[in-house]
Amino acid sequence: SEQPAPRISVIGTGYLGATHAAAMAELGFEVIGVDTDPRKVEELREGRAPFFEPGLPELITKHVASGRLRFTTDIAEAAAFADVHFICVGTPQQSGSFAANLSYVEGAARSVASNMTHDGLIVGKSTVPVGTAARLRAIVAEVLPEGIQAELVWNPEFLREGKAVDDTLAPDRLVFGGTTDRSEALLRQVYATPIAAGTPVLVADLPTAELVKVSANAFLATKISFINAISEICDAAGADVSLLADALGHDVRIGRQFLNAGLGFGGGCLPKDIRALMHRSGELGAYAAVGLLQQVDEINMGRRQRVIDLALEACGGSVLNRRIGVLGAAFKPHTDDVRDSPALNVAAALHLRGAQVVVYDPQARSTAQRMFPTLGYADSMGEAVSGADVTVVLTEWQEFVDADPVTLGNLVHTRTMIDARNCLDAVAWSAAGWKVLSMGRVP
Ligand code: UGA
Repeated sequence: SEQPAPRISVIGTGYLGATHAAAMAELGFEVIGVDTDPRKVEELREGRAPFFEPGLPELITKHVASGRLRFTTDIAEAAAFADVHFICVGTPQQSGSFAANLSYVEGAARSVASNMTHDGLIVGKSTVPVGTAARLRAIVAEVLPEGIQAELVWNPEFLREGKAVDDTLAPDRLVFGGTTDRSEALLRQVYATPIAAGTPVLVADLPTAELVKVSANAFLATKISFINAISEICDAAGADVSLLADALGHDVRIGRQFLNAGLGFGGGCLPKDIRALMHRSGELGAYAAVGLLQQVDEINMGRRQRVIDLALEACGGSVLNRRIGVLGAAFKPHTDDVRDSPALNVAAALHLRGAQVVVYDPQARSTAQRMFPTLGYADSMGEAVSGADVTVVLTEWQEFVDADPVTLGNLVHTRTMIDARNCLDAVAWSAAGWKVLSMGRVP
């Protein structure tokens, strides 16, 4: 029988929550987004996303106008309004430890459950260590008002920054963890559109659903560190890691994606997720996973040092008072996110060694400047590289890939380019008189 459309609340309006709330409105539901930060809520009400994400401001504006999407700081309002409550708050790395900070997810579960005025479903989406959902169930049971019933299930999110809207509207797969027949039917109703379009649904127990998410990120991180380890061999042996990755990628069991060697992974997810999984694996006595993930993390951090060493070498051993043009600050293109950005990490390390670092990024200038106010910043690529002794590409923005080596060559002091993302056409740059240093590619 046709059930009336459930009303939806989304708790937490960061990358995950803001995108999920807008996508749910786009799928036809009435949605309320909740955040404790009144500034964020105010911005969202005005149709602005608190971060750069292609397509998201348009979607928010559209549905704030259509009346299907609104935002509040009042969890009680959301608890009273909605039937399905998505928990989308952050699980950052704890300071001084690799463990995830679970205070926000616990707080969200507690506050929504304790304010419920009718039966509902609480759906965890945040990335959590395995075993968290079971603990949240206990918290919910403890604080639910008399006579109210609420199931808690897990439905991990796999969206990529820069492609968040598409990933949310048309996910690769949906995982429902710990559902009963009733809650599974409700989730199938919420996701009816992607399911009808062919998105597979996997129904699992709670711990499996929690683990799918972190395992996916751990695998992606491992793939990147694998190719980066191989690129070190390429450097030593005079082989070309890009050609090698192309050849590997033709084996469908391997696949070409996430085999780009270079500066390695950063961002708000992969680094903290592998560390949290490492920590949790240790608690559970799963030491093979601890060892594997430790290597993945170490190889990855080693890439940053490799780029710093290349810059030192290019400057004859010291970067003191040398001018370094840094192209890229975001942790990857199509985002203004600089959380654990390898690019900024390298820029800051060179600055600490006495270099005059000037950074240009097409989107991430203000987020970068907030995090590292002492670095120099430029408004254009030309300004960043003018007079440079060394130029470094740290994020593979299309603008840098398309840059004209002749024009930039006339601006710099010395035509030395470190292509830390292996994204430039080394032949064209060399032809324009540049010395190009890459990561595992023949010079
Ligand atoms: C990652 C996952 O890809 C998503 O599936 C997941 O949902 C998300 O984390 C999350 O947990 O929320 P994201 O952090 O947006 O998404 O970024 P990715 O596109 O995975 O890139 C991560 C890093 O790996 C970037 O710094 C990128 O430059 C680097 N990378 C990626 C490489 O160094 N080489 C590659 O071949 C690919």
